[in-house]
Amino acid sequence: MPSLPAQGLSTQKAPPAPPAAAIAFANKLLAKMTLEEKVGQMSQVAMNSDGGTGVEQQIAEGKVGSLLFVTDPVELNRLQKIAVEQSRLHIPLIVGFDVIHGFRTIFPVPLAMASSWNPALIERAQSLAAREARAVGVDWAFAPMVDIARDPRWGRIMEGAGEDPFLGSKIAAAQVRGFQGTDLASNDSIIACVKHFGGYGAAVGGRDYDSSDISDNQLYNVYLPAYHAAVDAGAGSVMSAYMDLNSVPATGNKFLLTDTLRTQWKFPGFVVSDWDSIKSLTTHGFSSDDEDAAVRAVNAGVDMEMTSHTYRDHLAQAVREHKVSLTTIDNATRRILIAKYDLGLFKNPYVDVDRSRTVIGSPEIRTEARHTATQTAILLKNDNNLLPLKKDVRTLALIGPMIDSKPDTLGSWSLAGDVKSTVTLLDGLQHALPSTTKLLSTKGVEIERVQPSIFDSQFPSPKPQLTTEAERKKEFDHAIDLVRSSDVAVLALGEAQNMNGERASRSTLVLPGEQEKLLEAAVATGKPIVLLLMTGRPLNITWASQHVPAILNIWYPGSEGGNAVADLLFGEANPGGKLTVSWPVDVGQVPIFYARQLTQIPDHPETRYWDGTSAPLYPFGFGLSYSTFSITGLTLDKPDVVAGASLTASVDVENTSDREGSDIIQLYTHQRAGSASRPVRELKGFQRIVLKAHEHRRVQILLDTKDLAFWSPQTKTQAIEPGSFDLWMGDSSEATLHQQFRVSSNTHAANR
Ligand code: NOJ
Repeated sequence: MPSLPAQGLSTQKAPPAPPAAAIAFANKLLAKMTLEEKVGQMSQVAMNSDGGTGVEQQIAEGKVGSLLFVTDPVELNRLQKIAVEQSRLHIPLIVGFDVIHGFRTIFPVPLAMASSWNPALIERAQSLAAREARAVGVDWAFAPMVDIARDPRWGRIMEGAGEDPFLGSKIAAAQVRGFQGTDLASNDSIIACVKHFGGYGAAVGGRDYDSSDISDNQLYNVYLPAYHAAVDAGAGSVMSAYMDLNSVPATGNKFLLTDTLRTQWKFPGFVVSDWDSIKSLTTHGFSSDDEDAAVRAVNAGVDMEMTSHTYRDHLAQAVREHKVSLTTIDNATRRILIAKYDLGLFKNPYVDVDRSRTVIGSPEIRTEARHTATQTAILLKNDNNLLPLKKDVRTLALIGPMIDSKPDTLGSWSLAGDVKSTVTLLDGLQHALPSTTKLLSTKGVEIERVQPSIFDSQFPSPKPQLTTEAERKKEFDHAIDLVRSSDVAVLALGEAQNMNGERASRSTLVLPGEQEKLLEAAVATGKPIVLLLMTGRPLNITWASQHVPAILNIWYPGSEGGNAVADLLFGEANPGGKLTVSWPVDVGQVPIFYARQLTQIPDHPETRYWDGTSAPLYPFGFGLSYSTFSITGLTLDKPDVVAGASLTASVDVENTSDREGSDIIQLYTHQRAGSASRPVRELKGFQRIVLKAHEHRRVQILLDTKDLAFWSPQTKTQAIEPGSFDLWMGDSSEATLHQQFRVSSNTHAANR
């Protein structure tokens, strides 16, 4: 097991302990509970998998503390009534669901939202998701997913904020604030669940569920900080991950769940397992059977079991046999009761079904979803300002397998999303274009996963219709004919929504199916081509980056996706998102990330592979705009700063174009020498700004030297190490404006 850092993992403050009234309430209830009722509170039942097997009876007997996968308010009120009126102690259920990027109204996928580099926007989006979820009686989101991921083969990279721990931490905290608001008992708030603790994003080979083998250095400096930030932001719950961390399954991992989460981070909330992850401790070759799995999970620190029933079937007996202490059971139950108390469920267990109808999909939420999708798109290329398109174009072709697919517009993890009201790209363009423009559209090609997705029955993507080679050829040729007849063609290509998310890893990053061929044929017509990417991961678009004049990554833009994309294509909105993961030239470069270590001859990316570059196709932090910006005049307010204090770095930013737009100013540092060598650059500050045409602004970013602290594998402590630092500012991780500063130790400063 990695050794714990002596000074804790970060300089953040511990989260607030629960209020005395909540503890007193829970303790009073706990005193009346039987052992079986306590275990009941620690058990969560999935309605879609075992809801049929006498769940009402179990609820009435106090054997169920929580439900997942029920989202109908009438049904939830009915089930809640059984808990409140028929169970002996009238304890309400807590209802969890994957509220990942919206609930009924779907926002862009999390990796897209991160690309806005705008924590306030993300906080707002999650607060609206919380409002919709709570309105139907879902009071607990299995989000935010804060797993740092540096391998785009991993399908779940889409669910997180990307590769960087600093940005990931800010976005994690923003999501917690958004979900939970200031009062959990309000009908706009739900409890957040930080997942998947911890290190799930480092699955070897990018293969979902595979083990993570993470050094102490990477664990403390890269993988753990975002979970810690979410905990410090007050997240009410944490989900344990599926995979082994350094050979110990996360769900039975005492180092993670007790030593780190409880002891070091002072996490007061409750821990839930992932789906069946307690039972699978045996599959991992860790526990010997279900009973042993239950004992090891609870003793490691898992308070509630999701879906499998090892707690329900074995925990009470394990307590009687002294394999688990009653104190452990009481502590777990108390935390769950406190969460229910904080949510106000003991006072208001039911939802107002009429109100839910007015809250869901309200104009305010739809407007915000559209705005968010415009803020999260990333312009990767725009030769000769092909974009924005003129609305008075005579003939526009819109081609691609997902242009009129509602599920694919929403993206994976939209399980409760309102598919019907989704605005596809085709809908959006139809609404936006004047009647004088002829809009030609067709799929061109179809795409499908090789193996089915686990979510296909719950959330299907359209099935291919073209069954013979001849049909496929006819459709392909038809699409190219449409491109030929158009003045400009927009090709929307990428992955179907079920090609990323859980159990959706890939061994290549190429455009699935015949899409690249279609793109090449479209480019060969000589018509101006715009490539819209629908994806949840970096794709291999090296050919496109060389041959297609304009590339706009729209991710999966959500319920208002088509309208937002029309806004972007025709310049009502101006793209300003930036990558939060490096885009490789080819899958062979993976893992690739900007914060690599300095090594021998670090400046020659062409020498790392003899057959190609080791530089990414598009670096972290990169993204264009229809506006252009100049960034000059980097100054620091002081050349020396005492450890623990802050300095301010400033640059002049000017919008040098005739169009209002936004840029994201980023600050990177590098520690020149220390007890361990530090990455070549690390993000330590950022700010998204909007500038009117030709507006100029002096942008200041505060650098808190506490953010320079790192866990040293040499000293085994978390510390700010005095010495010389480089600092760069600009609008990508390749920023060139440079200054240097020194950090002196506190003692040194005191002696001066
Ligand atoms: C398994 C996934 O790993 C997790 O992220 C999700 O919250 C649960 N299933 C519940 O759907």
